[in-house]
Amino acid sequence: MGDIMQIAILGAGYVGLVSAACLADLGHHVTCIDINRDRIEGLQRGEIPIYEPDLAPIVVRNTENGHLRFAADAAGALATAQVIFICVGTPPRVQDGEADLGFVFEATRDIARYARDDVAVVTKSTVPVGTGDLIEGLIRRMRPHLHFGVVSNPEFLKEGAAVADFMRPDRIVVGAEEQWAGDRVAQIYSELARAGAPILRTRRRSSEAIKYAANAFLAIKLSFINEIADFCEAWDADIDSVSFGIGLDRRIGPDFLQAGPGYGGSCFPKDLRALLHSARERAVGLRMVETASAVNEARKWSMGRRIAAAVSGGLHETRVALLGLAFKPETDDVRESPALAVVNALLRAGAHLHVHDPKGMKAARGLIEGVTFAETIRDCLRDAEILVIATGWEDYARLDPHAVADLMAGRLVFDLRNALPASSWRKAGFTLRRIGEAAPPATISFTARPGPDRSPMQAVDWDAVRHERHREKGAGHARGMAMMKPAE
Ligand code: UDX
Repeated sequence: MGDIMQIAILGAGYVGLVSAACLADLGHHVTCIDINRDRIEGLQRGEIPIYEPDLAPIVVRNTENGHLRFAADAAGALATAQVIFICVGTPPRVQDGEADLGFVFEATRDIARYARDDVAVVTKSTVPVGTGDLIEGLIRRMRPHLHFGVVSNPEFLKEGAAVADFMRPDRIVVGAEEQWAGDRVAQIYSELARAGAPILRTRRRSSEAIKYAANAFLAIKLSFINEIADFCEAWDADIDSVSFGIGLDRRIGPDFLQAGPGYGGSCFPKDLRALLHSARERAVGLRMVETASAVNEARKWSMGRRIAAAVSGGLHETRVALLGLAFKPETDDVRESPALAVVNALLRAGAHLHVHDPKGMKAARGLIEGVTFAETIRDCLRDAEILVIATGWEDYARLDPHAVADLMAGRLVFDLRNALPASSWRKAGFTLRRIGEAAPPATISFTARPGPDRSPMQAVDWDAVRHERHREKGAGHARGMAMMKPAE
């Protein structure tokens, strides 16, 4: 088959590993290279260094059938590859947030040393606009006679759904200055294109900009809905209804409208900082992006303070169980997780904190101290006066409130992800504070209207919740963020 290619991937981190495994699964011959020998030897033994659903079987299957190899030495694979992907990290520089391209240029120098003629060099790592030109210049200086092309092909992989995002992408973006190099990269994805994935061909700089613009737009959407959640709290509206209601407008769309404690992770915060740095370099004002970023920073840190302020008498010496450390469910990644900001604020307020996460404990241990890491959810909840849900893991959403009531000393819950089924928790006697909800939600009754171009929607029936909230108010419960001291 003419579509099958020899591919080398530099970097066995998150993006490199997922790309290598999925490209091998599409039938290509892939070598994934990393300077970290331990990581490579582990991968050769079938040990996957990250938690990502569905990734392990793909790695194992393609290692066994010989489509996927791992190597610590770049020379051999680079010398035979028709396409080389740069998938190394671009961490933010501490001083100014600019993307540090040190690893990218190291990889480029290796490519210049070993690559064969007619090679397409592809940036998949998120790199500032214009980086393709710098890579091209560096290779040309080191190997003036090498025939090569530099292509931008950004990743749009969500942690926790990376394999699905790779195999069923909304779009594949290929940005190239030479037709042949772009064709070569597009050809790699021909099977996905046959299955319906649109391939967008652009200039190289446009492709680099698409990645930043996409992440910035999504971050703005999140900061927007989080501010609307505050507005709902202040005016006694309900954010879940509002998100749902605006998401029905096709121009807005239903995704990325879940209000919460702010966004985190390895991409949005870092990419927004890097984008803002690039904008400053050319004296362009990106005030929307700047504001989205500032709103998010402030929000992450305000969550713990809001909890402390909502409990009369404060949190001093109060035992708090915090469930969730990862920046979102289905990942072990705690980088820039809002949960960590909540932990710090609660500690500062004097709480005794017991924390739990199904996957993120190991990474969190290195970043937070002064808390008790509970091995099980039960251990975390036992004798707690207050419960905080900081990550919306399914395991937490499915907790039986009666069983939780038996374990906890108090009956106060702050659900920062609106993950718990509110009415059953309230029925079980809990006082539940949710994001963007100050009072009983308005009665809305909506019948599902699935269609070919609409995502399926569920009927929403708030009546039980409303009824429950009225009962709570009747019993003299405080409204808004003013909380009672939890039951002894
Ligand atoms: C993101 C982009 O989605 C992906 O395309 C890009 O390549 C890398 O960055 P990721 O960081 O894995 O992916 O996480 P994502 O699922 O996009 O969530 C980012 C943050 O936003 C998380 O903290 C999540 O909890 C939060 N979020 C997301 C919300 O608070 N509400 C939502 O409705 C969606």
